[in-house]
Amino acid sequence: MKMPVALLLLLALSNAIGINGEKSSGQCDYKPSLDPRPHSVSILEFGAVGDGKTLNTIAFQNAIFYLKSFADKGGAQLYVPPGKWLTGSFNLTSHLTLFLEKGAVILGSQDPSRWDVVEPLPSYGRGIELPGKRYRSLINGYKLLDVVITGDNGTIDGQGSVWWEWFNSHSLNYSRPHLVEFIESEHLVVSNLTFLNAPAYNIHPVYCSNVLVQNMSLSAPPKSPYTIGIVPDSSNNVCIEDSIIEMGYDAIALKSGWDEYGISYDRATRDVHIRRVHLQSSSGSSIAFGSEMSGGISNVRVEQVRQYNSFSGIEFRTTKGRGGYIKGIYISDVEMENVNLALGAIGDCGLHPDDKFDPKALPVLDQITLQNVTGTNIVIAGNFTGIQESPFTSICLFNVSLMVSTSSKSWICSSVVGFSESVFPEPCPELKSPYSNSSSCYSLLISYGESATASL
Ligand SMILES: *[C@@H]1O[C@H](CO)[C@@H](O)[C@H](O)[C@H]1NC(C)=O
Ligand SMILES: *[C@@H]1O[C@H](CO)[C@@H](O)[C@H](O)[C@H]1NC(C)=O
Ligand SMILES: *[C@@H]1O[C@H](CO)[C@@H](O)[C@H](O)[C@H]1NC(C)=O
Ligand SMILES: *[C@@H]1O[C@H](CO)[C@@H](O)[C@H](O)[C@H]1NC(C)=O
Ligand SMILES: *[C@@H]1O[C@H](CO)[C@@H](O)[C@H](O)[C@H]1NC(C)=O
Ligand SMILES: *[C@@H]1O[C@H](CO)[C@@H](O)[C@H](O)[C@H]1NC(C)=O
Ligand SMILES: *[C@@H]1O[C@H](CO)[C@@H](O)[C@H](O)[C@H]1NC(C)=O
Ligand SMILES: *[C@@H]1O[C@H](CO)[C@@H](O)[C@H](O)[C@H]1NC(C)=O
Ligand SMILES: *[C@@H]1O[C@H](CO)[C@@H](O)[C@H](O)[C@H]1NC(C)=O
Repeated sequence: MKMPVALLLLLALSNAIGINGEKSSGQCDYKPSLDPRPHSVSILEFGAVGDGKTLNTIAFQNAIFYLKSFADKGGAQLYVPPGKWLTGSFNLTSHLTLFLEKGAVILGSQDPSRWDVVEPLPSYGRGIELPGKRYRSLINGYKLLDVVITGDNGTIDGQGSVWWEWFNSHSLNYSRPHLVEFIESEHLVVSNLTFLNAPAYNIHPVYCSNVLVQNMSLSAPPKSPYTIGIVPDSSNNVCIEDSIIEMGYDAIALKSGWDEYGISYDRATRDVHIRRVHLQSSSGSSIAFGSEMSGGISNVRVEQVRQYNSFSGIEFRTTKGRGGYIKGIYISDVEMENVNLALGAIGDCGLHPDDKFDPKALPVLDQITLQNVTGTNIVIAGNFTGIQESPFTSICLFNVSLMVSTSSKSWICSSVVGFSESVFPEPCPELKSPYSNSSSCYSLLISYGESATASL
């Protein structure tokens, strides 16, 4: 096969600088210290009862309050032994490890009065589902440093079924809570646990940096409305690896604020690395960017992903009024199976928080590269429907092979320009620009950048 010079150069450089290896995976550099904490207490010492019926919110709050005093003494661990520990929402503290033993299950209360109601996030301006306030998450961190939530496959079960019913029957009074939310926090680890039945999101770091999510299993039933696995939101240096995520809606969704609120908060999601994950998203996308992306999303690397039984595989979502950008995204080694829409980039997706958004705030989608993608039992290969006033640019597809069930209309394209090489089925003309100027493809840019640095 004759390859264009640019692609050969890409392949040569990528091998030379280890684009597939550890050397270039800068975003996962956050290596937390997982040394045992010098102090440990059991939740039993605070009167907790693990019968699945007794409410333990006060025990968790008291335990954490007590452990606050160890923050400047190397931190402390809160140990949760086997049992069913029913609780309402509680806060964590800095330099804390929450450890769930094998057989320990934290159960979220199904009584909404056990969940505090709090102000909306400033980058959203309102609750995401309903105007106004929102429920606080089950486990919360606000302005914390060095927090680990881990264990020996302990479980956090949000018992979300009541929330899904209230959502479906429009009887919620505020937007639904999440399982774990960190706000303005740094150096966070969530690992070695099973999360089940989140009311809405499972893990939501917002305005955070240095976050590691590793070896997690997250699941919610296929019909659970808009349940999402992990949502890195206006956060940077986030690493998600070795995890299985099966959700009603999106498995992983990167976000950064909503229209005028996100634009004025102006905090991007950037330097995100996702690898070795198995994803299912029954009615959403296995990996989604947006639709709330008004603070921008950039420098995201995704590799070694398996996606199955999903509505869509990889989706970029935005709309007029969002502002912001999605750029510098590099996705490789993806295997899809039973996916309706393999690749999507949609420019009219999502609602507005209110009518104060600026319709002239046009989002930018640029420099998005997908390489080594295979798919079986796919219905539509790609839907790239850009924005007329702000077309999607430098969408680059290398070595993409999708077995579509109907050959009739496998690619839908408008207001998009890009490059492709070794793509099956044959892509639309908009994605077949010649390679002479494919240097605007993101992977080429990183290759040049890194090789230039490396050779100094
Ligand atoms: C939990 O943290 C929030 C700040 O995020 C605070 O307003 C609230 O009072 C705290 N609740 C408890 C029980 O400490
Ligand atoms: C993953 O977590 C399980 C417990 O949930 C643990 O037994 C296993 O060793 C962990 N694997 C790695 C690679 O950390
Ligand atoms: C972890 O726990 C869940 C139930 O909470 C169980 O389904 C799963 O098999 C366990 N995984 C491992 C590796 O023990
Ligand atoms: C919403 O508020 C109404 C009136 O206070 C209350 O009756 C209802 O139970 C609340 N719904 C939920 C799901 O909390
Ligand atoms: C997960 O568990 C394994 C096995 O116990 C342990 O070696 C590893 O450090 C844990 N990982 C994290 C990130 O806590
Ligand atoms: C693409 O696949 C080929 C063959 O398996 C491999 O050599 C190359 O490293 C892959 N490239 C990326 C970016 O994953
Ligand atoms: C294309 O990707 C597939 C896996 O997705 C890989 O096996 C194959 O070697 C790749 N080809 C090239 C030329 O990179
Ligand atoms: C492609 O996306 C556009 C924009 O959202 C939508 O109107 C159209 O129905 C989609 N096409 C298919 C076949 O899904
Ligand atoms: C390719 O380069 C030409 C001239 O340099 C330019 O006019 C054209 O817009 C470029 N195409 C793309 C898709 O970037």
